[in-house]
Amino acid sequence: MKKRQFLNATALAVLTLTAVSAFAQDSAFKIGLVLPMTGQQASTGRQIEAAARLYMAQNGDTVAGRKIELIVKDDTTIPDVTKRLSQELIVNDKVNVLAGFGITPSAFATAPLATQSKTPMVVMAAATSSITQASPYIVRTSFTLAQAAVAMGDWAPKNGIKKVVTLVSDYGPGIDAEKYFKERLVFNGGQVIDSLRVPLRGPDFAPFLQKVRDLKPDALFVFVPSGAGAAVMKQFLERGMDKAGIKLIGTGDITDDDQINDMGDGALGVVTSHHYSAAHPSAVNKKFVQAFEKANPGMRPNFMAVGGYDGMRVIYEALKATKGKGDGPALLAAMKGQIFESPRGPMFIDAQTRDVVQNIYLRKVEKVNGQLFNVEFDVIKDVKDPGKTK
Ligand code: DHB
Repeated sequence: MKKRQFLNATALAVLTLTAVSAFAQDSAFKIGLVLPMTGQQASTGRQIEAAARLYMAQNGDTVAGRKIELIVKDDTTIPDVTKRLSQELIVNDKVNVLAGFGITPSAFATAPLATQSKTPMVVMAAATSSITQASPYIVRTSFTLAQAAVAMGDWAPKNGIKKVVTLVSDYGPGIDAEKYFKERLVFNGGQVIDSLRVPLRGPDFAPFLQKVRDLKPDALFVFVPSGAGAAVMKQFLERGMDKAGIKLIGTGDITDDDQINDMGDGALGVVTSHHYSAAHPSAVNKKFVQAFEKANPGMRPNFMAVGGYDGMRVIYEALKATKGKGDGPALLAAMKGQIFESPRGPMFIDAQTRDVVQNIYLRKVEKVNGQLFNVEFDVIKDVKDPGKTK
């Protein structure tokens, strides 16, 4: 009697376990994509969502037996909202992965939630070096400003640019850009004669540009977040800074593919350093750009789109590697160390830092088939984030 009861209990337990794991396999795999769809950084949200949907259309919405459910939330470019929405996604929707994060303060606001809930958090946009240190659950597929700015600090003084004024948005990525550009420029014999910071929200560039005109540097180095570049370019040209012999240089955020074609011929010749250009001449990128433009008429993919596209790849491959049953820690482990060819070029998620190692390109704005593009003319291969302190 006892033996039979035991057997029955065992059979029941086995049945229950099978049912639970079958449920886990059959249930949706949820990705909570928190993005600025409105507000100052709306173009970042628009680009990343379009790229994530493209990745799903190309790679199917069932992975390792799990149906992928993408839940897009608009944080309106406000970090407190990013945090609240992420909390709701974790607690109510029980998402398996959080992704997106358009600006640095949004990523920092959410990092503790990822740690507490052991939810992998794929940062597809925000680019301050220290973000990956805010939670062991963060994996980044965008870039860091330190990565991009160092390349410009090497290029500029070798190309006749010795005296520079820097102008950056006054928050994490701007401060990183300013610091790493200056450090490398000075190391190479150049000089930063003034460092100007503009507010992130609703900046008025006019008084800053007037000051730059008076200082007459060889070049003005600029970092502003994606979407703000066109305003800087317009005022730079309107004030005749280029005619006064001041060159415009910066990280590629300023000659953003989302906007560059509308900047006019005044943008021709501007040299920037960055990890992605829609003109990157590889077969993988040509295919990506073509498919993106077909799915989103009138839009050109920018570096935000590529961060979103590659972020989805990292999530899909982690789910495959865990055979569809990955919990947070298992998914995280499968994200670390991924290596693949991205539309940007070769890409590697460093297992130690969970940050992206990638090529940084020097590019010049040129006309190709009547349209303005950032045409790559040099490359620094496999750049690790110089901003990591450990
Ligand atoms: C960040 C945002 C951007 O739009 C960008 O181009 C670079 C960095 C950020 O907030 O981290």
